[in-house]
Amino acid sequence: MSHKTIHLIAAARPNFMKIAPVYHALRDESWCDPVIVHTGQHYDLNMSDAFFQDLRLPDPHIHLGIGSGTHAEQTGRVMMAYEKVLMEGSPDLVVVVGDVNSTMAATIAATKLGRPVAHLEAGLRSFDRTMPEEINRVVTDALADLLWTPSPDGDENLLKEGVPAEKIERVGNIMIDSLEMLRSRIEGEEAYREYGLEKGRYGVVTLHRPANVDPPESLKALVGALGRIAGRMPLVFPVHPRTRKNLERNGLLAEVENARGLHAVTPLSYIPFMNLVFNCGLVITDSGGLQEETTYLGIPCLTLRPNTERPVTISQGTNRLCTVREVEGLVDEILDGPGAKRTPPELWDGKTALRVAASAKRFLEKARG
Ligand code: UD1
Repeated sequence: MSHKTIHLIAAARPNFMKIAPVYHALRDESWCDPVIVHTGQHYDLNMSDAFFQDLRLPDPHIHLGIGSGTHAEQTGRVMMAYEKVLMEGSPDLVVVVGDVNSTMAATIAATKLGRPVAHLEAGLRSFDRTMPEEINRVVTDALADLLWTPSPDGDENLLKEGVPAEKIERVGNIMIDSLEMLRSRIEGEEAYREYGLEKGRYGVVTLHRPANVDPPESLKALVGALGRIAGRMPLVFPVHPRTRKNLERNGLLAEVENARGLHAVTPLSYIPFMNLVFNCGLVITDSGGLQEETTYLGIPCLTLRPNTERPVTISQGTNRLCTVREVEGLVDEILDGPGAKRTPPELWDGKTALRVAASAKRFLEKARG
């Protein structure tokens, strides 16, 4: 097989820990060169650069610098900028990860120019099209040529949508590769001590979904609940830029910052954040990735959403969906309960990137020789 070029599309915070293990695995292969394309959807130091450092990624080889905007603006800008890149130098394979706007945009631009696309974390479905990510997932999976799924539900969803079985390959959960790759550095930190906290006796909170943090009444209810929970168990709350802006806009930032036991901090990079998660007693979140990481680690997780595209985190893991009204009662239940059991789903083993590299090689051998 002739030498191949593989683009890895990175855009927003949850993408970086998904491309990192793939980058490292492909860089070790003699038959290909991985090229990191950063769309610039996330651009703050602590939302992007710090993750590249923690995950030992080089500076992006190509940076599209598209920034923030409405969904159509962001999607359109990535399509236009990435199309130019594709017309200048043609990769043999484009790898997209997750479900952010840039994932879908890069997929559309590449497939329209006849470039093969592989989607890592394919097949996840919340069946809730009010979530922008669900639309991104459905469109990306409809167009991609190779679909790498993390769990059996992913395969089933794709088959039901008419995706041919030969395009689907279950490779496992790529986030776990990053966690295992950096385990010793994560375990070597004591980030929780910075907040005067003790191992196992605090909670970690992250909230950024538009449905939770954009409507003022929802945000207010969340702030009230977190303040009361923090009275029982201290909470560390790295505040996402979207959430911070909304707290400021609605005059709620002071309430968050002054609540006893509630440590509202700026977003943290991967290693200190994962150190907080490794050592906490519970997580309250609306993130996708944290539902998986807590399942893998056996930490109780309360997810403030009506649905999840990651059902194995409930059926096999430690995750529970809840409303803001229910969350305080569930925290009490967890604190008074026997503790969670750790049963990681199949192929969540830290070896997903190796399966991805082998699958990419087979695909390219078959496609062109
Ligand atoms: C995006 C993804 C979401 C993912 C999340 C993780 C989509 C539709 N959403 O949501 O799936 O879970 O990333 O963070 O792709 N901002 C900054 N600095 C930054 C980035 C964003 O200040 O580095 C602010 C901007 O005001 C921006 C807002 O945050 O408008 C939202 O950013 P955006 O990338 O549109 O969506 P997220 O909410 O981060």
